[in-house]
Amino acid sequence: MYTIALMLHVLGATVWTGGHLVLSFCILPVALRERSPTYIRNFEQRFEKIGIPALVIQIGTGLYMAFQLQPDISQWFGFDNLVSQTLTLKLSFLAATALLAVDARLRIIPNLTERNLTSLAWHVIPVTVISVLFVLVGVSFRTGGFA
Ligand code: HEM
Repeated sequence: MYTIALMLHVLGATVWTGGHLVLSFCILPVALRERSPTYIRNFEQRFEKIGIPALVIQIGTGLYMAFQLQPDISQWFGFDNLVSQTLTLKLSFLAATALLAVDARLRIIPNLTERNLTSLAWHVIPVTVISVLFVLVGVSFRTGGFA
């Protein structure tokens, strides 16, 4: 069961992190250069159909694996050992992603124009950087940490 969760977790990561890298490096630069939000809107409308389920899978499989690795939730927070270090970082990344995504979804995307495109960029870029950090921290767990 753990192996299945890990496989789903890696697949979900390819969608979430891969999708945000495409958005940041292939879509956002053109939208900013041409001051046209249409590129972003077209991408978002299509990506979210697979992006949101992928994020749900990441959270579900991530929490499942966390419970298998450390059933005592009070031990999930802190940097005493590799498991709590990994989970503290992952849950912090998740909180930051949720804050940025909800703000973009509720405040910026409904009124997206060429005027607030830069403000959206200041949400897309950090979410992309965090999505890569999710992968680095996840893989570093399997390889024994950054030390
Ligand atoms: C979009 C969000 C996420 C992405 C892109 C992501 C990505 C990854 C990747 C690529 C790995 C390495 C898998 C491997 O070594 O084969 C990993 C491992 C892991 N992730 Fe995530 N992750 C995300 C969210 C989460 C969340 C929310 C949690 C838990 C609260 C979590 C918990 C874990 C754990 C415990 C491992 C280690 C599994 C193991 O090697 O046994 N992840 N993650």
